[in-house]
Amino acid sequence: MKTKLLRYLEARRGEFVSGESLAEKLGVTRSAVWKAIASLRKEGHIIDAATNKGYKLMSESDTLTEEGIRQNLREGSRVRRIICLDEVDSTNNYAKRLALTGAEHGTLVVADRQTAGRGRYGHTFESPAGTGLYMSLILKPKVDAERFQMITIADAVAVCLGVEHLYPEAQRELGIKWVNDIFFRGRKIAGILTEAVTGFESGEIESVVTGIGINVSTKNFSAETAGSIFCEGECPFRRDKLCALVADGVMDFAEDLGTPALINTYRERSILTGQDITYMKNEAKCTGHVEGIDDTGGLVIQNEAGKLETLRSGEVFMVRTEEKTS
Ligand code: BTN
Repeated sequence: MKTKLLRYLEARRGEFVSGESLAEKLGVTRSAVWKAIASLRKEGHIIDAATNKGYKLMSESDTLTEEGIRQNLREGSRVRRIICLDEVDSTNNYAKRLALTGAEHGTLVVADRQTAGRGRYGHTFESPAGTGLYMSLILKPKVDAERFQMITIADAVAVCLGVEHLYPEAQRELGIKWVNDIFFRGRKIAGILTEAVTGFESGEIESVVTGIGINVSTKNFSAETAGSIFCEGECPFRRDKLCALVADGVMDFAEDLGTPALINTYRERSILTGQDITYMKNEAKCTGHVEGIDDTGGLVIQNEAGKLETLRSGEVFMVRTEEKTS
């Protein structure tokens, strides 16, 4: 009932809605509405109340709802269905379960909090309530498996463009560490996890679930390298706006993952280009110098033997200056 109440308030965000009409719609008493409002406020939603007027979800309230996200999607958006949850183990897990039951291209799963947020290589992704954006999209892309990496690339670019649109001060300060990490002022503020969903019977890849986690204003992390866009101070934009921008961006890029605009924007933001890195190959630790990103999102490096090679996957680490000079 609380979720429903929030939906009604969201549909008329910034306007008063009478307690009586809310009670009627929800089939409960006015005092039950009042109690639910008190509980929503405790959760952090900013709701005004006035005698004879009712309740108003304030425009600055950073409330995540399906309606709020939908209202911020662009006209003609390719996002189809939106599922917005208060809490889930992982939006990727949820989306994968949906994909197995035939969920359509453009299904978006968003949660305010994840209890088991996952990163690549078995890492966890800290996902506390109210301060981050945790979203997964189900896609049925028109590309072969080798090009799936371009989906992660599309996500990374959509995150950078979305954040920069809402917070122009971040322009030129958001960098992408190949392939799926987004850095801001020296700290990782976002990560991407793209997973294939294989049909039980066909054994073929039927959908791709691509999950994006953005630390918007989370203040405390257990991982030393993790940070937020707003480690200090208030976030000037709402998460539903960022969610809509990122989702629209990914859906639009997914139409043509080969568009030069996509890979070129990724290249411009690549923080590894020109750096020395370490990477694993055949279980051996190797060092290389990053020359750039190829047209399919591979990391082009000059290896220790002076030869060019392209990494298609794997974790890479930047060699810090002090390690190089010592
Ligand atoms: C990484 O840092 O290695 C990737 C992190 C991806 C986190 C997002 S949050 C939404 C989606 N659900 C998950 O469990 N993971 C992704």
